[in-house]
Amino acid sequence: MRGTVAPNAVAAVSEARQWDRLMQMAKLGAIPGDGVNRGCLTDLDRQSRRLLISWAEGLGLAVSIDKLGNLFLRQEGTEPGLAPVLTGSHMDSQPNGGRFDGIWGVIAGLEAVQALKEAGVVTKRPIEVVAWTNEEGSRFAPGCMGSMAYAGYRPPETWDAVTDKDGLTFGEELKTQLALEADIPRRGLGVVDGPAPFAYVEAHIEQGPRLEAEGLDIGVVEGIQGSRWFNVEINGKSDHAGTTPLKLRKDAVQDMLRAIAALNDLTHDPDDVLRFTVGRIEVSPNSSNSVAETARFSIDLRHPDKQVLTERGDAIERVVLGALKTCTATVTERFNAAPGTFDPIVPDAVEKAAKAQGLKTLRMASGAFHDAQFMMPLCPTGMIFVPCRGGVSHHPSEYSEPGQLAAGARVLAAVLADLANR
Ligand code: GLV
Ligand code: MN
Ligand code: MN
Repeated sequence: MRGTVAPNAVAAVSEARQWDRLMQMAKLGAIPGDGVNRGCLTDLDRQSRRLLISWAEGLGLAVSIDKLGNLFLRQEGTEPGLAPVLTGSHMDSQPNGGRFDGIWGVIAGLEAVQALKEAGVVTKRPIEVVAWTNEEGSRFAPGCMGSMAYAGYRPPETWDAVTDKDGLTFGEELKTQLALEADIPRRGLGVVDGPAPFAYVEAHIEQGPRLEAEGLDIGVVEGIQGSRWFNVEINGKSDHAGTTPLKLRKDAVQDMLRAIAALNDLTHDPDDVLRFTVGRIEVSPNSSNSVAETARFSIDLRHPDKQVLTERGDAIERVVLGALKTCTATVTERFNAAPGTFDPIVPDAVEKAAKAQGLKTLRMASGAFHDAQFMMPLCPTGMIFVPCRGGVSHHPSEYSEPGQLAAGARVLAAVLADLANR
């Protein structure tokens, strides 16, 4: 069957099968409160990859990985030489994460491909489901390493020396993973070694409250706001907490508090569009009765307007240095994902498919970053959002209903059939 509409494939999407796969994945790294902690390149991450591969092989998909560990499941098209349509997301989670962020986009891709196969829908172009390496950036910062390398945005060895909290490096952990997955065929690295995909579509939970609050089914994502990440390190001097007079101290924690207060002023936005977060703080020697010698904290800054993000982000170092009373500090930028608007090709296809299925849609931007951000310059890109309860994400209570997720997978199946026959 050829054509832009694939009603049989839409009907073949199985809500129960998709949910069952998600719940099987959720066991890998399960934490109290229905959450998941599945850090990238951990044993749990590898187990989830093996599980995904076993399902893909059961469907006859060709499995391959690249040198960043990005994992691809390919359904061949009738014209295998054509650029594929790519869909997917990530399988790593936040340390206190939920069961849907990322993993649903991968499982939805598999579900959509399975539905197309079961319905006998043949596409001209191949369809590939991808699981990107390290989207979250919580074990190894920053996020989106797999997609940044695929897109040629950074050389693949850029993050080799990045360490996790135990001092293990990304490079060594990746090497271990690639060795453990030596049985899986290797492929070149994205556009560094080959052509761009024809299009990229990523399904994801919204991670915000709008769709649920407005009683809608599908978010037609039109673009993604920009994000910048910084590390700040404040250096003082360790001293005795009971004996050292205040005027002799170089207290890194006190200067960190001054710096964060000044950054709150810098990033204050009465409209609550500019988002500033300090999510990670490390203090050394981290002892109750010692003045802190070093304080490190992370900054996550987001805004949809490139100029605002540039101006405020570029001011961070000056503001931090200006706030210090006794210590010195360094500010290092680790991540810069520019805001962007998707080419209308994919959003239009998503909206058309959703409306044809009688679903209620909203055109919207993404506040979270996604691997789609780095695919945007390569090919027509888009995302499909489904509602999540209370808009909660990056928390164990993150939840989307089986029916909401099935609706998203049905839209994805139709969009893949449409794009892969263009
Ligand atoms: C992605 O996980 C983000 O932080 O936006
Ligand atoms: Mn995600
Ligand atoms: Mn996330």
